[in-house]
Amino acid sequence: MIHVHEVCKEFGPVKALDRVSLRIEAGERVALVGTNGSGKTTLLRALVGLTRVTGRITIGGHEVAREPEKALSLLAYIPQVSPALDAPVQVVAETIASLRNVSVDAIQAHAESLGLPYREVASSRFRDLSGGMRQKFLAALALAAEAPILVADEPTASLDAPSREAFFRAVSARGASSTFVLCSHRAEEVERLVTRVVELREGRIVRDERVAGTGAP
Ligand SMILES: Nc1ncnc2c1ncn2[C@@H]1O[C@H](COP(=O)(O)OP(=O)(O)OP(=O)(O)O)[C@@H](O)[C@H]1O
Ligand SMILES: [Mg+2]
Repeated sequence: MIHVHEVCKEFGPVKALDRVSLRIEAGERVALVGTNGSGKTTLLRALVGLTRVTGRITIGGHEVAREPEKALSLLAYIPQVSPALDAPVQVVAETIASLRNVSVDAIQAHAESLGLPYREVASSRFRDLSGGMRQKFLAALALAAEAPILVADEPTASLDAPSREAFFRAVSARGASSTFVLCSHRAEEVERLVTRVVELREGRIVRDERVAGTGAP
């Protein structure tokens, strides 16, 4: 499903990704772990076409750099850092709903199940929401897209405990054939959501192993 081949990324003298190769099959639930600055976000951003890299990344057989629309139609992404959008929440929801061909109702339902009072915040500027509220809304947008691959970068870092549980349930409710790629520092998240852990250190993969986790709560 996802094929990363010999991917490198340098920021000046920093090798953020150093010849990373990785295959993730459909239905796998994978966590990228590693210390701050080890390259996790850079790898996810490369996967979703936001960072230009050398090497080759394909999703569902389509190369991200050459056929981004085909490759990325299979994927939804929850970023680590929220974009500073001036648009009201409702407008963001309508725009994403139209782009992803889903209903605003579906986004609203996911937002509410994560504990975000959608109607109350619909007219607020997205950037004025609290950090946790923004994270819930971004998760709702990604979950509503019902893409076969969900890529999530520290998706519960700002969530309170009940919302974190709700997010775990929502991920677990995705079908067995859906693929999940997570960046996380939270042991609980890794244990409960994934069945494979890939560790990065200084831009290289230093561990890639199956874990006993059920991949479900
Ligand atoms: N846009 C950028 N410009 C310059 N350096 C960058 C940029 N993005 C990332 N880096 C550097 O690349 C390295 C990897 O960063 P990355 O954000 O991928 O780490 P991470 O594993 O996601 O860390 P964290 O756990 O803190 O989220 C770091 O040394 C970082 O400073
Ligand atoms: Mg990161």
